[in-house]
This record gives sequence, C-alpha cells and structure tokens, in this order.
Amino acid sequence: MFSLATASIIGFSCLTAVSAAPFTYNNNPLGNNFPNPSPSQTTQIELQAHAAAHGPSPTTITSLEWVAFNELSEVAFFTELIANITNNVPGYIFDTEIDTRNYILTALTAVQAQEELHALNANLAVKKNTGGVILPCEYNFPVNNIEEAIEFASLFTDVVLGTLQDVVTLFGEDGDAGLIRGVASVIGQEGEQNGFYRNLLNKIPSALPFLTASTRAYAFSAVNQLFVVPGTCPNVTTTGTVGPFDIDLPVFDTLTVVTQNIQPKSQTLSFTFDLPAGGAKPEWKSDYSGLELVLINQQNAPVIESLTNVQLSSNLKTITFDALFPFNGTTFGNGLTLAVITPAGETFTDIDSIANVTIFGPGLIEVN
Ligand SMILES: *[C@@H]1O[C@H](CO)[C@@H](O)[C@H](O)[C@H]1NC(C)=O
Ligand SMILES: *[C@@H]1O[C@H](CO)[C@@H](O)[C@H](O)[C@H]1NC(C)=O
Ligand SMILES: *[C@@H]1O[C@H](CO)[C@@H](O)[C@H](O)[C@H]1NC(C)=O
Ligand SMILES: *[C@@H]1O[C@H](CO)[C@@H](O)[C@H](O)[C@H]1NC(C)=O
Repeated sequence: MFSLATASIIGFSCLTAVSAAPFTYNNNPLGNNFPNPSPSQTTQIELQAHAAAHGPSPTTITSLEWVAFNELSEVAFFTELIANITNNVPGYIFDTEIDTRNYILTALTAVQAQEELHALNANLAVKKNTGGVILPCEYNFPVNNIEEAIEFASLFTDVVLGTLQDVVTLFGEDGDAGLIRGVASVIGQEGEQNGFYRNLLNKIPSALPFLTASTRAYAFSAVNQLFVVPGTCPNVTTTGTVGPFDIDLPVFDTLTVVTQNIQPKSQTLSFTFDLPAGGAKPEWKSDYSGLELVLINQQNAPVIESLTNVQLSSNLKTITFDALFPFNGTTFGNGLTLAVITPAGETFTDIDSIANVTIFGPGLIEVN
C-alpha cells in the first residue's frame, strides 16, 4: 500500500533541489517565458512532461483559417452592400417602399456585425494557435444592383452552408470535437440569413431537406475565382507553393457555367474552362473523354456526365463543352449544385474524395 511515509521518501527529497524563489507575476523560477513560452521552450516542457500538449490538429487550424478568410470576405461584401443602399447608388434605389428599405438595412446591419464576430472568433483561435491572424484581401464583387447582390449573397451562403458540414466532419475525425458546437451554431445562423435572402428573391425560405455538401477546397477556390482581386491576399499563395503564412488549401482552375438563368428542368448546359499553362494533358485524350463532369447536389451520390460537343477556341486557349443537367426535382437538381471536372473513371467514396482529384471547379448552379 502506498503510504504517506513512502511518499515523503520518494517525493519530498527532490523538492529540496528546487527550493525556488517565489512564483509571482514578475518572477518565474522555471527559467523560461512560461506562461508564454517560445516554441523551443514549449518543446522542452513537453519533453520534461513526457508528452505534448494537445493542440488542435493542422487540419483543424486550416479549417479555422478558412473560416476567418471566408468571413472576412463576407464582412467586405455586406459593408459594400449597405453603403450602396444607404448612398442610393443606381441599382440600389428603392422607389416607394421606404419600410422595405429600412427593414433590409436593419437586417443587413445586424448581418454585417454578426459576420464580423464570426471572423473575429475564428481569428482568435487562429492567433492562439499560430501567433498570426488571417488578413482580408481586395474584392471585386460581380454584382451591380440589389437583386444581383442578394442572389449572390444567397449563393455564397449556400456554399458556406455546405462547407461548414465539411469543417465539423473534419473536427470530429481529427479529435477536435470541442469545436463542433460553436461552428454548428454558426451553421444555423447562416441558414437564418439565407432564408431571408431567399424570401427577398421570392423563393421559398428553405431550399431543400438536406443542403448540398461542399468542401473547404471548393469554397476557397470559389471565393478566389469569383471575387478576390488576384494577388491581394496576404494569406493565399501566389506561387502555388504554400508558405508558412498561407492557408493550406488549393485553388482549382476555374470552370465557368455559361448558361444563365437555369430553369428547373432537365437540359443541356454549356461550360467553359481555360487550358492550363502547359496545355491539355495527354491523359485527357484529344476528344476529352479522359475527363468527366461531376455534379454534386444535396447529400446524394454525385451524378457523372460526359463532356460533349467539345470545342477549342481559335486562339487554342479555351475549351467550351456541353453536358446534361438531368434535373428531376427530387433526388437531383434543386438548390445548389457544384459542377467540377475530374479524370474519368474515378471511384468516389465521399465529397472529399471528389475534391481530392478535382482539376477544374466548382461551377455553381442554383435552381429554385
Ligand atoms: C456596389 O455598387 C458598385 C457600383 O455599382 C458595384 O460595382 C459593386 O459591385 C456593388 N457592391 C455590392 C456588394 O453590391
Ligand atoms: C497572414 O499574413 C500576414 C502577412 O504576411 C502574417 O503576418 C500572418 O501571420 C499570416 N497569418 C497566418 C495565420 O499565418
Ligand atoms: C433523378 O435524377 C438522378 C440523376 O440523374 C437519378 O439518379 C435519380 O434516380 C432520379 N430520381 C428519380 C426519382 O427519377
Ligand atoms: C486524398 O488523397 C490522399 C493522397 O493521395 C489520400 O491519402 C487521402 O486518403 C485521400 N482522401 C480522400 C478523402 O479520398
């Protein structure tokens, strides 16, 4: 049995070796910068402790950085939108319904600050774990009037709602379940926002029973492709190689959906992409049958379509093609669909396995 007497023999004798100066706010007898140790001091403490402190996984830190990056772009968007409405910029003028204008401004003013807090919350965690924060970029939003702006807000909110599914799944897989609750609370909050935008657009507030899945790489690519001014993000690589201050996510090559105003029916859609610097890859084959279009909608298995009517532009730089969008209003087509190009014949187990082999995308399609 373990007695106090034994404890005094084993334990107390070594205490004399550290008959230390008192531990006060301005005197640390440990001989390091505890409680703010340098990285090498932390390693020393971990060696002495026989194990490392449990911090979030690198994947989790990337997720938090993505959240901060994305929320910063939303803050910029809503700030600009509020200014456009407030200043009666052409396209943002309400003729008669002063109550509607006031209601929309009141709602957007709350959203703007709510997005600021989402960004601050993520960046506080980023700072705690990396010492730095994610900084905003310059943005150029592809909207010129209030209807386009609200449609765009609804579209990127849908992408966020899909991507936060990925974020919480990765938290769970990586042993960071403690972060799930806070992010889940943001998923509901963004859903409330989207119901409002959809209502303004004369759509039913709730799009689908199970919203379309997305991934961090797709959302990161979409923001960089659609409205970041290239080269203006302090935390996005400009060389393709991820540096120590860069968010560790890929930006895929762009796939543009050419067909506009897509209606809820089965139809052929047109797409375009620019060939990469080195030109088409041999494995894509001369008729592009080495590539396929993957359509991700709701939580269902992806729909695979071939590229048809493939045309190379006369300057040999751009490909246009057609593909079927087999809308049927139940298991495929309503709400957000992500369109991406992957090598043909891949086996997919989940959306992350699609993102893993994506070459171009995501093209964003919104129906109903
Ligand atoms: C604000 O208005 C300007 C001028 O029309 C436009 O270029 C910009 O995209 C608008 N931004 C938003 C978020 O509506
Ligand atoms: C973001 O970039 C800035 C400027 O390079 C840097 O100071 C900061 O540490 C970076 N943030 C992260 C989380 O790496
Ligand atoms: C709807 O379309 C999808 C995609 O083509 C197909 O997988 C599914 O079976 C269709 N559902 C019904 C009810 O027809
Ligand atoms: C993605 O690819 C990497 C490397 O090939 C592999 O280790 C990983 O399991 C893949 N992830 C998924 C979700 O398929």
